Amino acid sequence: MSVTGAAIVAGVCGQPIRHSMSPLIHNAWIAAAGLDAAYAPFAPPESGFEAFIEGLRGGAIRGLNVTIPFKERALACADRCSDLARLAGAANLLVFEADGTITADNTDGPGLIDAIAVQVPGFDPAAGPVVILGAGGAARGAAAALAMGGAPKITLVNRTLARAEAIAASIGGVVKAAAEAELDALLGEAGLVINATSLGLGGGAGPAARLDLTPETAVVVDMVYKPLRTEFLRRAEAAGRRTVDGLEMLLRQAVPSFEAFFGVAPPASVDVRALALAQLGEAVR
Ligand code: ATR
Repeated sequence: MSVTGAAIVAGVCGQPIRHSMSPLIHNAWIAAAGLDAAYAPFAPPESGFEAFIEGLRGGAIRGLNVTIPFKERALACADRCSDLARLAGAANLLVFEADGTITADNTDGPGLIDAIAVQVPGFDPAAGPVVILGAGGAARGAAAALAMGGAPKITLVNRTLARAEAIAASIGGVVKAAAEAELDALLGEAGLVINATSLGLGGGAGPAARLDLTPETAVVVDMVYKPLRTEFLRRAEAAGRRTVDGLEMLLRQAVPSFEAFFGVAPPASVDVRALALAQLGEAVR
């Protein structure tokens, strides 16, 4: 179906946005569902994010996904938000309501949990201690979602300890910070280990964590998806651990966004993972 004047319009906003895979994913679902809709990329200047968002109040478009570097500022623009977005301190989904208000949500954390459910069926990410490597926005979002999901202990380990401590203080409860010197002991009891640093992006070495120290039942997640099989995931597999890749997270966070924009579930008839892998230039697995 072609896009008519009555189309529902949504999009993704970031700076830069050129390499975003969200337009590919959402437009493939739109086409497969036969919707009169479109999903476009937007790259407002960094200084102009708030003005761009304010101009959309009242529903000029239905909603936006928001990515780096605007997720924290997106939350601040909203009139209301989900508990998870508040705890994560960031929003990747804005919906422009007809009454002029903006609703914010965070689907990155649920995307993480859903990706684990897809790639390691039956594994409960909240059953045991979680170790998160990193203390940026991605780490904070993962910690918030797993804390809300009932994980008994979540420890952030980061090169800059103060950033991990700030997240632990902000989320509180089961979320703690630890120095890199404590990592081996934490890995020894971990049920779930997540790389939320940018290490490994573009094919470099991932975090130096001793994944072989984890219990055999542990699951290892890498939020980095370029390359798909990061050095970190390859080391986890070599140690016999089950793994979850960052691409599945990206695909899963798109699902509730699509539902919020277009009011229907993404059709299962299109293999968006294969499309995304083709765009990434990776062999389909
Ligand atoms: P995002 O918001 O996407 O999570 P970020 O805030 O830039 O991105 O966070 C990047 C993470 O990768 C941080 O935890 C960073 O560690 P610092 O807080 O110490 O900067 C981590 N990181 C990046 N390069 C690193 C490196 N060479 N060694 C260790 N950690 C690194």
